[in-house]
Amino acid sequence: MPIIGIDYSKCTVCRTCLTACPRYLYQENEEKAQIEFVGPIKRCVLCGQCIAQCPEEAILYEGMGEAISIENVGTPDKIVSYDKLFNFLASLRSIRRYKPDKVPDELLKKVIRAMEYGATGANMRSEKFFIISDKSKLKELSDAVIEEMGKDQMLKDQFNEQIRRHSQIFQYPIYFDAPHVIFVSNNLNIMTGGFNIGNIITFGRLAAQSLGLGTCWNGWTQIAIERNKEIKKIANVKGIVVAAFTIGFPDLTYYRIPPRTPKRV
Ligand SMILES: Cc1cc2nc3c(=O)[nH]c(=O)nc-3n(C[C@H](O)[C@H](O)[C@H](O)COP(=O)(O)O)c2cc1C
Repeated sequence: MPIIGIDYSKCTVCRTCLTACPRYLYQENEEKAQIEFVGPIKRCVLCGQCIAQCPEEAILYEGMGEAISIENVGTPDKIVSYDKLFNFLASLRSIRRYKPDKVPDELLKKVIRAMEYGATGANMRSEKFFIISDKSKLKELSDAVIEEMGKDQMLKDQFNEQIRRHSQIFQYPIYFDAPHVIFVSNNLNIMTGGFNIGNIITFGRLAAQSLGLGTCWNGWTQIAIERNKEIKKIANVKGIVVAAFTIGFPDLTYYRIPPRTPKRV
């Protein structure tokens, strides 16, 4: 059950919830001089905008997790400045060299937790996360992806050469011997499904970076799975849209942020 009503001992009828709700599920009852959650409940997308914007903490809810109170929540520009954020964002690199150490569970949980806050269309949250840490499983997956990608006439030459080089260094070259690969999947048979996962993964990668971890999006796995659903079974990943990224402690050093050509606007 999501929103279950309003705590009238707290509500001051400020009407904030009327416009906070993107689905307009609150209404003013003028006779009773109160605001009511009129639903229908199934139209509520559980975005929590009403909970977040109510100045009196008067929205009653359950089964949605807990709201978080933090300093400067209403002025996030005071949480992190543009300059600091820019440097952090621009420092996000695709990491293709990892230390063999496993990532402690509490850090992996923090990465997953951050992914819960990436925007998704209509707040659809059907995503599932699968962390694969078993080396032999990662090797099996890597071999399957290499085999599938090798069938592609267009990609074949460039991919094969890249993988030939990687194979000289790594046991499971598709994943650069990273200690873990996180798969994210959902069951959305619409374009939004891919966007949701893309957004979520970016949140996870940024969170990982803030924890001293490195990541690399693995489009090879994504493409191979789209072409051969059997690969999903090796990973025991369920879902229609599936994407994956490697994660671990980086085993390399950066001395500068690479250049990027300014975009024409
Ligand atoms: C959707 C997507 C798929 C990607 N797939 C792969 C991949 O399969 N293998 C890989 O080594 N890098 C992959 N990358 C990383 C890109 O190559 C990388 O982001 C780009 O070269 C820019 O480098 P940077 O991330 O270090 O700034 C992927 C990135 C994205 C966004």
